[in-house]
Amino acid sequence: MGRGGCYKDRQAGSHCYEGMGIPVTALPGGSKGRDKKEEEAILSLESVTKSFHLTLTRTIELYALRDLSFTVGRGEFLGITGPSGAGKSSLLKCIYRTYRPTCGHIWYESARYGSVDLACAPERQIIHLRAGEIGYVSQFLKVIPRVAAVDVVAERLIPGGYSWPEARRKAIELLTRLHIPPELWDACPATFSGGEQQRVNLARAFITRPRLLLLDEPTASLDSAMKGHVIEIIKEIKKNGTTMVGIFHDREVMDRVADNVLELNIVKGCSGSKAEGRAAGREAAPWPQ
Ligand SMILES: Nc1ncnc2c1ncn2[C@@H]1O[C@H](COP(=O)(O)OP(=O)(O)OP(=O)(O)O)[C@@H](O)[C@H]1O
Ligand SMILES: [Mg+2]
Repeated sequence: MGRGGCYKDRQAGSHCYEGMGIPVTALPGGSKGRDKKEEEAILSLESVTKSFHLTLTRTIELYALRDLSFTVGRGEFLGITGPSGAGKSSLLKCIYRTYRPTCGHIWYESARYGSVDLACAPERQIIHLRAGEIGYVSQFLKVIPRVAAVDVVAERLIPGGYSWPEARRKAIELLTRLHIPPELWDACPATFSGGEQQRVNLARAFITRPRLLLLDEPTASLDSAMKGHVIEIIKEIKKNGTTMVGIFHDREVMDRVADNVLELNIVKGCSGSKAEGRAAGREAAPWPQ
């Protein structure tokens, strides 16, 4: 197993890329699952902060996450909840490295590289991890123009060595399980309903059976029957060893799949030269004189 880039050095302490994290904003929620101490952690966040410098008329620093630490055990499903704007999507984007954290570490126990700090791993490693180990379902499907639904799903298997006919066969199996009707398999998802697009998006993530799967409101556009089908597949891939972190507004769905729950709060504040318009509902830091 090769090592390179940014690896675990617990003695090194938290390293800030820009700025400093301040108070903890997450409260561990109910724990109906296994004792974390008894299971091996696959993901471990240490004092993760993500802030944005926003400049319109003046520059302000907005905190999406502040000094957030938690661990996820191998094979666990961690549910994330909290009010709109609490930083839930930003958290998944930091783990998937769509966003680079401002500060802190995100240790991931990779099959290919061993311990990797996703906060600072080189882009090349992140590309390999996304292709082979870490899946992400965004809130919305990024539609590729003029590509049929079946190919949008099947293409995920091609880098793993599947032939196109075999990949398409597996994609059709999954689309069928997610109740996408056959007449839509060869149509482009651009014209699909929100719920149909969401299921194609889920099929793209489920088909590779990733080691770590990040789900951003995976059932938000689905009716209760469709939610049931998705929950069934989530449980199945969990049984096969996939670790998951999933955001849910629907507490009932979360309770059906999550072993543990992390609740994010909006207590993060912003700083800069102007508070108006950004501080509603937040704990705003005093403005510098
Ligand atoms: N790229 C960005 N640039 C600037 N601010 C951002 C960016 N991404 C997120 N934010 C800000 O970070 C905060 C948290 O956003 P985030 O999308 O993570 O919230 P959320 O908890 O997922 O909300 P929701 O439940 O509505 O999806 C928001 O105030 C948002 O405006
Ligand atoms: Mg969100």
